[in-house]
Amino acid sequence: MFKNFLSSITRNGLSLFGTGLAIASLVLIISLFVIQYLGYEGGAYLGIITFLILPMIFVLGLLLIPVGSILHRRKLREMPGGEGTPLLPVFDLNQAKTRSWLLILTGATMFNVVIVAGATYKGVEHMESVEFCGLACHSVMEPEYTAFQHSSHSRLTCADCHIGPGADWFVKSKLDGAWQLVAVAFDLYPRPIPTPLHDLRPARETCEQCHWPTRFVGDKLKIKKHYEEDEANTEVTTALLLKVGGEAGKTSTGIHWHVDRGVKIRYRSDETREDIYEVEYTAPDGAVKVFADRRAPEEGGVWREMDCVDCHNRPSHNYQAPDDEIDVALRDGLIHRDLPFVRKEALRIIDAEYPSHEAARETITAELTTYYQDNYPEVASGRAQDIADAAATLSDIYSVNVFPNMKVWWNTYPEHIGHERSEGCYRCHGRRLRTEDRETISKDCDICHVVLAEREENPEILTQLEILP
Ligand code: HEC
Ligand code: HEC
Ligand code: HEC
Ligand code: HEC
Ligand code: HEC
Repeated sequence: MFKNFLSSITRNGLSLFGTGLAIASLVLIISLFVIQYLGYEGGAYLGIITFLILPMIFVLGLLLIPVGSILHRRKLREMPGGEGTPLLPVFDLNQAKTRSWLLILTGATMFNVVIVAGATYKGVEHMESVEFCGLACHSVMEPEYTAFQHSSHSRLTCADCHIGPGADWFVKSKLDGAWQLVAVAFDLYPRPIPTPLHDLRPARETCEQCHWPTRFVGDKLKIKKHYEEDEANTEVTTALLLKVGGEAGKTSTGIHWHVDRGVKIRYRSDETREDIYEVEYTAPDGAVKVFADRRAPEEGGVWREMDCVDCHNRPSHNYQAPDDEIDVALRDGLIHRDLPFVRKEALRIIDAEYPSHEAARETITAELTTYYQDNYPEVASGRAQDIADAAATLSDIYSVNVFPNMKVWWNTYPEHIGHERSEGCYRCHGRRLRTEDRETISKDCDICHVVLAEREENPEILTQLEILP
């Protein structure tokens, strides 16, 4: 009986080939799965092979078996004397042989369904993984992936923000993904990848899975160390009391007032969202105010409802500015502050476009060394190690913020929090946008923060707060 089953699936070349294909891919799937289960990581490609490509071959093999069998029967019918052969197998359930045959077939099918379902599940899970999103397309996602790893969201997956929960966005993302695969295969994608993403899922459906939008944050003290471009790299401090606010009781205050559940702000802008033409604010009581730029185009542009991402546009891909990075490295002692003019020289050297990370590393090291040899020979010889360390730190900074192969330079993707790195809040706050009654969206320094100290040496406020330098 078993022999009969075997012969029916191997009687012709095509079915035999299909059987071979199915068995070979099955063995491979299982062994690769076991290897990965035992801890071997293998990277993005191994996952694609195990859970996407091999299962497809497996299904193809299974399909070839009946196809081969039908073709075989058709051939038999064409042979002299074969006219009576039916095209499809005849099932006569009164025969014990057929019943056992059917039993085996059902068993085998159930087994196959389990394998295919399991592989599909793992395949989908794999496509949502950070490795797949971040690495499968070679260097395309390298900038986003690197920045992501250095962000406070590094433990999330790309899908948490880019897909979120629910079947509809899942399907949409897979359709987009199919196009992206083609774009990568034929090198059709733009460099740098354009921002903002116009089809990003509304933040309310992603961010708000984890962040309660109106949680009352209150005032947040922010202390930033900066360093002057003088010989001593003088340390100065900026202290801000940011009025993040949020919802408390029935009222909502401060910066997070924009995302209060009763507030609705829509705006029309150019594609990049940097140039805002008009803002429409609907208060909880239904009153509407329109602030418009009289010089902006009256038609066109894109309307959008403001959400978290209009301020937090870089929650995960937050490339830093070169001067901020140097300030942090000086503060943390990664660059020695007693190297003369190191703040100024470091910025001059890294705020440039190098063709690759390797080239950047070489030139940065050479330039910094040369600078000290030419200007401070005694420092160059006595502090060679400190200079080498500083150069290494600067090269690392370059490698995590600038990606020449994707044309991502300093500030390709400006952050909208604040008003230093880009217009940020000032895209709306300021005198450009006005209502009919010439009312503007306030730019008073005090509505967003209290500036406790601005680039001051040893500011008094730190002593008062007992935050000693
Ligand atoms: C915390 C949420 C979050 C996570 C996690 C996240 N992203 Fe993003 N990503 C965003 C937001 C928000 C934008 C859009 C910025 C905008 O529209 O201004 C974006 C934009 C992008 C862009 C467009 C280019 C750009 O930089 O604006 C790419 C590509 C991208 N993300 C890839 C990834 C990959 C790959 C991962 C995982 C390694 C990932 N993202 C993880 C929130 C996230
Ligand atoms: C799956 C959960 C999750 C999602 C989704 C998520 N976050 Fe977060 N977020 C976190 C966690 C956890 C932290 C705290 C990390 C820490 O303290 O190290 C955090 C921290 C933050 C911070 C403060 C730290 C910082 O980098 O400034 C901001 C702002 C933030 N998230 C914004 C967002 C925005 C905007 C989105 C949507 C685009 C988002 N988050 C989506 C979990 C999430
Ligand atoms: C009008 C701009 C704006 C909008 C809109 C906005 N935020 Fe913020 N948010 C800020 C600023 C500014 C800060 C303070 C940044 C800092 O600490 O440097 C902040 C801080 C945060 C923090 C850190 C709070 C802490 O305890 O340190 C989280 C988390 C956060 N926002 C999440 C969100 C989420 C989620 C949304 C959408 C529901 C959102 N924000 C909408 C501007 C905004
Ligand atoms: C898309 C336009 C837009 C952007 C971008 C924007 N705001 Fe606003 N903001 C508004 C509007 C509109 C109001 C209400 C003005 C009014 O009622 O007169 C407002 C009001 C405020 C208020 C006063 C809230 C209150 O309690 O009444 C604060 C604080 C504020 N914004 C901070 C910020 C900060 C910080 C940023 C940048 C991180 C920012 N805004 C970016 C449109 C914007
Ligand atoms: C619409 C809100 C808003 C207004 C108005 C505003 N700021 Fe700010 N400012 C911010 C935010 C948000 C930050 C960023 C804090 C951070 O880095 O997280 C900031 C940062 C700063 C910083 C720190 C820069 C740094 O990195 O050291 C200074 C200084 C500053 N603002 C001064 C001012 C002055 C002066 C005014 C009045 C002309 C003003 N701001 C008006 C929102 C505002």
